[in-house]
Amino acid sequence: MGRIVHVNGAYVPEEEARISVFDRGFLFADAVYEVTSVLDGRLVDFAAHLARLHRSLGELEMPAPVGDDELLAIHREIVARNGMTEGMVYLQVTRGAADRDFAFPADPVPSLVMFTQARALVDTASARDGIRVVTIPDIRWRRRDIKTVQLLAPSMGKMAARKAGCDDAWMVEDGFVTEGTSNNAYIVRNGTIITRQLSHDILHGITRAAVLRLASEAQLRVEERAFTVAEALGAAEAFITAASAFVTPVVEIDGRALGDGTPGPVTRRLREIYVAEARSAAI
Ligand code: PDD
Repeated sequence: MGRIVHVNGAYVPEEEARISVFDRGFLFADAVYEVTSVLDGRLVDFAAHLARLHRSLGELEMPAPVGDDELLAIHREIVARNGMTEGMVYLQVTRGAADRDFAFPADPVPSLVMFTQARALVDTASARDGIRVVTIPDIRWRRRDIKTVQLLAPSMGKMAARKAGCDDAWMVEDGFVTEGTSNNAYIVRNGTIITRQLSHDILHGITRAAVLRLASEAQLRVEERAFTVAEALGAAEAFITAASAFVTPVVEIDGRALGDGTPGPVTRRLREIYVAEARSAAI
């Protein structure tokens, strides 16, 4: 693919990038990550992603590999080196290499890996037509607020969706939707936007925070509370948010079409508002 990736201070062609087999990210999923979207070659919501990265690192008592100014500089450099105007920057910090032991090493030297994924984010089929989701049990661990790379459960969820001929899965715990495999989940009922409240049960989405702020500024009603699958099936609209999806309509849940089966007006308006704001505030 010819990408230039960043590994521990070096910019190298992707086929030359190397990480130790003893890296704890590889052996224990002892690593955290961030995905920042890029529009017009600029970073969307970078400060918020950086703040969440620090929160994830702090919760795992993992040191940061480099300072914040350098992280921003590497983001910009990797976007420039790959000539990317639209897509994502993936960042992963691991606790580094150490002989295999469940206990953390005493003096960890964290690893930093970053790469770009060029792709259309604004003009996409899923934004235009919406996506179809299935519901599945949420079998993840209990600290989903920490953005770790242990993503096998969501990965299996995504495959369950594919096998059902759908695009994604919404995970359900005790009858309530937690979130999508890699996004936050919302429904719209009687004009009110409903999404699960923040806790250890879900990732605190950066796009979620921005969208809820913009929704309030646009005088839309927002309720942060858990909702059931039954409520979702009876909703007028539904959507997801993520750095890689912005606001993307959900038009079908478990084979049941929502409304007339096309993206709803609240969702379309929020996407428009969000993309405009993301573009203008990107750095
Ligand atoms: N996923 N919930 C989960 C479980 C996620 O993995 C993500 C992001 C989100 C949305 O968070 P944000 O708005 O900060 O992107 C919610 C990223 C995009 C991924 O894993 O690729």
